[in-house]
Amino acid sequence: MNKIIEALGIKKIYYDNSSKTEVLKGIDLTIYEKNIYGIFGPSGSGKSTLLHILSGLDYPTEGIVKVFDEDLRKLSPEKLFRLRNEKFGFLFQFHYLLPEFNVLENVMVPLLIRGEKEGIAKRKAKKILEELEIIDKIKLYPKDLSGGERQKVSIARALVGEPKVLFLDEPTGNLDLRSSEIILSMIMEIYQKKDLTIIVVSHNEKIKEICNEKYLLKDGYLTKLI
Ligand SMILES: Nc1ncnc2c1ncn2[C@@H]1O[C@H](COP(=O)(O)OP(=O)(O)OP(=O)(O)O)[C@@H](O)[C@H]1O
Ligand SMILES: [Mg+2]
Repeated sequence: MNKIIEALGIKKIYYDNSSKTEVLKGIDLTIYEKNIYGIFGPSGSGKSTLLHILSGLDYPTEGIVKVFDEDLRKLSPEKLFRLRNEKFGFLFQFHYLLPEFNVLENVMVPLLIRGEKEGIAKRKAKKILEELEIIDKIKLYPKDLSGGERQKVSIARALVGEPKVLFLDEPTGNLDLRSSEIILSMIMEIYQKKDLTIIVVSHNEKIKEICNEKYLLKDGYLTKLI
């Protein structure tokens, strides 16, 4: 199995005025391709922080993150941006759809950033929105969508660039049971169809069932769950 991400000795400390919060105290984690990794743990334990560090959105205070054997710290901002844009898809804990763009435009954004032609970006965005069965909403703006629909659009945006790794932060947060189940089965379907590696962070017990590698993040350390 190919190694995709390797995190070694990760520590994260936040300093605010005089106080110091040590969120991650020394974490080692290796991500191999084509697995679904789940990171669980209480609220405030640092799950989102760890996900941001693994995906190069944030740097650790100490430790090394290697992606495809490249040390993220040694990449120029442009190279890091490109790596994230081409290889990673993200679904954030709080959706970050752009309010001034409609559904279709929101999904096109990662491709336009990459420099793809508008026509091609539109075609690819429509295709993924069709797969996720939300094509009838493409002209709507994020504020006019339900929470579940926003979640679907966010997944479409995360997948449109055909990433190698999909980072999901609470993909079913704030959704009712039925919407959670729809999102979950959608994630499974995508996983099976697209040959992805998924790293998911969640409180949801149902998500635990779909992961083949499970970890508990607590008191700053990661332990493997069997
Ligand atoms: N930029 C920041 N500055 C200071 N403290 C921060 C910052 N970001 C996160 N923290 C703190 O780090 C801790 C971990 O936060 P994080 O968002 O990673 O938790 P989480 O496990 O994702 O929680 P939840 O399950 O509620 O989403 C929290 O105590 C939070 O207040
Ligand atoms: Mg979080």
